[in-house]
Amino acid sequence: MAQTRIAVAARKGGVGKTSIACGLSSVMASQGKRVLVIDLDPQSNAAYVLGTNPTAPGTADLLSGGSPRALEASPDLYVLPGGPDLAGHTIQSLDPEDLADAVTSMDYDVLIFDCPPGVEYLERLGLVAADVALICTDAHPLAVMGAGRVINELKLRQQKGRRGAKRWALALSRIDLRRSMDQSLDQQLATAYPTIDRFIVHQDSAVSWAGAERVPLMKYDSNCKAAKDLKAIANWVFNG
Ligand SMILES: Nc1ncnc2c1ncn2[C@@H]1O[C@H](COP(=O)(O)OP(=O)(O)OP(=O)(O)O)[C@@H](O)[C@H]1O
Ligand SMILES: [Mg+2]
Repeated sequence: MAQTRIAVAARKGGVGKTSIACGLSSVMASQGKRVLVIDLDPQSNAAYVLGTNPTAPGTADLLSGGSPRALEASPDLYVLPGGPDLAGHTIQSLDPEDLADAVTSMDYDVLIFDCPPGVEYLERLGLVAADVALICTDAHPLAVMGAGRVINELKLRQQKGRRGAKRWALALSRIDLRRSMDQSLDQQLATAYPTIDRFIVHQDSAVSWAGAERVPLMKYDSNCKAAKDLKAIANWVFNG
């Protein structure tokens, strides 16, 4: 089976990228896929929320030519931690295609890149290495603007025939339809991006609890609302 590479990006901080990347990794692993989360964030949150050591050698080591050992979070679910070395000069001066090259011979069914907020050179490494991108936004106008910037970057790369994600969808994150701002977000995005698929990931306390207790989402509560939402995203990723 061909490998699937997914970048989860938003440009904006705190909109649920890591929760979606890690939740989706847990869903896909529970579907029998061998999944590796590659954390591109100096904060190293993915390794933390998945219950592994966030300070172990990880993505920065891989990008520097090393072969770091992926940490096992649960059966079929592995993670390469991020960490402060990702903000160092060596990584900043990499070519945007270097991550794509570094992961070519990795033995996983799925790679999920958890992109950081703000740091464009790290986000770009993920977008370029991916074949599918999930662009996260919540209802805040700054988040919608951040998502727009990621979409523009992806479109531009595609127009220029550059390497990188060729297919993308919007993930509307932490949605509570009792909130008026959340109610209008879907319509707002439908108008602005009529051809881009949209998925809702509801506000769900299981997501925050799983992260706080450092347990993969499907192990925490495989029947929660967010798990159902993420299964729909997994289906789109694999079946279009
Ligand atoms: N669907 C959800 N339901 C409930 N809480 C959520 C959901 N998604 C994210 N959260 C909570 O929101 C907070 C921010 O989420 P998360 O860390 O995933 O965002 P992020 O975009 O990765 O942040 P950063 O930009 O710092 O990397 C966390 O406390 C997380 O538990
Ligand atoms: Mg994050």
